[in-house]
Amino acid sequence: MRKFRGTPIIPEGVDLIKPFFWTEQALYILDQRKLPLQEVYYEANSLKKVYVAIRDMLVRGAPAIGIVAGIGVFIALKENLNRVNFPLSRKRLEREFDKIVEKLASSRPTAVNLFWALERMRKVFHGEMATFPSNLEREHYEKLLEVLKKEALRIWEEDLRANREMGRIGGAILPEGYVLTHCNTGALATGGYGTALGVIRFAIEQGKKIQVWVDETRPFLQGARLTAWELSKLKIPFKIITDNSAGFLMKKGLVQAVIVGADRIALNGDTANKIGTYALAVLAKYHGIPFYVTAPIATFDHSLEKGEGIPIEERAEKEVLFCHRSRVAPQKARALNLAFDVTPGELITAFITERGVIEPPFEINIRRTLGLV
Ligand code: MRU
Repeated sequence: MRKFRGTPIIPEGVDLIKPFFWTEQALYILDQRKLPLQEVYYEANSLKKVYVAIRDMLVRGAPAIGIVAGIGVFIALKENLNRVNFPLSRKRLEREFDKIVEKLASSRPTAVNLFWALERMRKVFHGEMATFPSNLEREHYEKLLEVLKKEALRIWEEDLRANREMGRIGGAILPEGYVLTHCNTGALATGGYGTALGVIRFAIEQGKKIQVWVDETRPFLQGARLTAWELSKLKIPFKIITDNSAGFLMKKGLVQAVIVGADRIALNGDTANKIGTYALAVLAKYHGIPFYVTAPIATFDHSLEKGEGIPIEERAEKEVLFCHRSRVAPQKARALNLAFDVTPGELITAFITERGVIEPPFEINIRRTLGLV
């Protein structure tokens, strides 16, 4: 690891893999573009750098993006502290805050956790601002930073707790045998444990005999590079498969369950997740294999009735046209690079959340779990 400045802030419960940590000076992000070949931490000490880290997927995975955005608000306001003069008008700081939130919110569109975390930071910001006079002194600003730092840390700690709980709840229902997973839903994608991968990890720690099929997950290769890296570290048996192998393995009886994460879940159970998830769900249904989605409550979008309203990120063509900087397609070939798809709720066996397993009918049971009815 490269040198870093300050005392690391990192909650208890982050063990083998540290996807990021922060200090008063900067946020350090394990650069996932470089894994598994290099383990390098990227120093983000400005709003711009945090934004780029999310946009360019140095950090990715819905819960991780949310946590990093929360910390990003703190980093950005800290950066701002060096530029402002006191007394500082409340209105001006509010405008500055809105700009920070807007910038971070524009980094990636699909994972709702990003917007959820920013909203939490916004609430805390306004709550604290309401107690200040209309012109702020330095001590007010510092108090505000302290409160925002605490909230960002709370978001991270809550995610870790939710992960362990999902592991416990999901670990009990996951069958033994071959379990297939897509993308990366482990420590790298969360506060440091995992959602779907956390369930697999927990089940194995409880003594279940499981072998994992890891979808390589083109084009960013979250499976082949990141999930495989995590499973190797955890000494969990796995094999990487190409994304198009799933159907045939299912037909041969070599898949007992599919378990994936989520980026945004609508109130009827429609679920946005990494592109390829929908095809897996269709295949699982055809072969009568359970299809589990594991996600914290923060991934449910209270404002969305169904999946049609979920914004689907379209990423650069070059991610498809190139493989590790080598062009693999003809010079003039174009590509469509949708980063996510939406799986209809009817293809999902159950959701595993920190509040328990949600079974169909999802229209009622999701609302009940979220406390909306
Ligand atoms: O584009 P990514 O790598 O951010 O997409 C990640 C996924 O699709 C994950 O499955 C999802 O965020 C859940 S991570 C616990």
